[in-house]
Amino acid sequence: MSKIYLTTAIPYVNGAPHIGHALDYLLADTYARYEKGKGNEVRLQAGTDEHGNKIYKKAEELGVDTKQYVDDNSKKFQDFIKKLGVENTDYIRTTDEAHKNRCQEIWKRIESHIYKNSYEGWYCEGCERFVTDKEYQENNGTCPDHNKPYQKLSEENYYFRIADFKDQIKNAIESRELEILPDFRAKEMLKLLEDSPDVSISRPKEQLSWGVPVPGDESQVMYVWIDALSNYITVLGYPDQDISEWWPAAAQFVGKDILRFHSIIWPAMLLALGLPLPKRIVSHGFVLSNGQKMSKSIGNVVDPIEVLESKGLPAFRYYFLRHADTFSDSDFTWDKYNEAYNNELANDLGNLVQRLANLCKKQDLAGLKFDPVRDSEYDKTMDEFYFSRAFDYVWSKVQDLNKEIDEKKPWELNKFPERHDELVTVLTSLAEKLLQVAYLLEPFLPETAKAIESVFTAEKILPPATPLFPKN
Ligand code: MSP
Repeated sequence: MSKIYLTTAIPYVNGAPHIGHALDYLLADTYARYEKGKGNEVRLQAGTDEHGNKIYKKAEELGVDTKQYVDDNSKKFQDFIKKLGVENTDYIRTTDEAHKNRCQEIWKRIESHIYKNSYEGWYCEGCERFVTDKEYQENNGTCPDHNKPYQKLSEENYYFRIADFKDQIKNAIESRELEILPDFRAKEMLKLLEDSPDVSISRPKEQLSWGVPVPGDESQVMYVWIDALSNYITVLGYPDQDISEWWPAAAQFVGKDILRFHSIIWPAMLLALGLPLPKRIVSHGFVLSNGQKMSKSIGNVVDPIEVLESKGLPAFRYYFLRHADTFSDSDFTWDKYNEAYNNELANDLGNLVQRLANLCKKQDLAGLKFDPVRDSEYDKTMDEFYFSRAFDYVWSKVQDLNKEIDEKKPWELNKFPERHDELVTVLTSLAEKLLQVAYLLEPFLPETAKAIESVFTAEKILPPATPLFPKN
């Protein structure tokens, strides 16, 4: 049995959860369940990123106390994670006292790679990121992701000497000691790393008061990303506790927009601390709404709670784990969502369960003792973190079962009493295969897998009183 540590990106709490936030959680939870299914022990972190000007200003704008504001929003994320059925073992808030103290310790430990300098340049508050002059020019002075002009900053900052670690990071990515998935993103990151200057890692207190103070310098506050990235190890107790039982992480799940922080600053911090690099960073694509980036001004922001409540959790997990390609962008529209529910979940799977359980009931069949087997093709795809493909593979098995029922026509066999044994053999084999499908489905649709298992392993096989996916 191995110990597996998995992490999710910690969202900013300058609003309620949106549909994109679900992706980190679902991917990490699916992988966590897969590893647990193999008998491994899993620790899965989640949390909220609660510092920085973006949050501070939002609270100010709303006229609410900043701490109260982050408390309320963090609660919404905690509720959301629960609603998604995520089995996280930890929940970290960057405003936790323990986290803040540990961040300051981390700062002290990397101090030999930090120097003070004056900064003159550009910043995007939406990204909470300093941008180079080249980027500024390429984007004509406006952040393409946030549609806001970059701010001009001219101030004294602390800098982190990325140059000290460039070669090591490059070698680690190239040799896959630090694997970045998908591969084309690893190439992008190598290119970025090459051009990466040292990074500013603090702001003067007058410019940023809502953050962790720099130890030994009252006038400066840590750059929010230093504080945020540290969460992955402070949550394990670093540096007060030995984290080697869990660290390095087996996989860190992040969206494509924040991969750069995880491929450059984060490895540099770990190397400066003398800690091993994570084994893998899995970068997922974006969920679009009707083919476009979700934005308040376009008015196409999808409320995840509304989606969740419309057809329940299995439908939600189904759509975002199967129809959101793990590595590229994907689209959400209500039409696509309804189609996937009716044509796939209800027709392919819901009907199959109902139909087969009814046939078994007619023959008075007792539930089976089920012995799941591992499936090497499935395992291989899951090990590549290509969850949407692994899910397609499971679905092909659902479709095969539907075909097999149609071909074997148990209802025809039922017309001949002398073929009763044959009928029982056919139904038993179909039910066993369906149980195996349920086993493979567990990481994706845990509730559904359990429901199928309880139907076909009960003392007597009876169809679910209400179909698993009633059509609407
Ligand atoms: N606070 C930082 C992360 C710090 S991790 C040490 C942050 N927060 S965020 O709220 O902007 O984003 C949180 C996660 O949601 C990121 O992984 C991000 O990529 C993901 N997504 C945000 N919008 C998304 C979509 N529309 N689609 C898919 N994922 C998206 O960045």
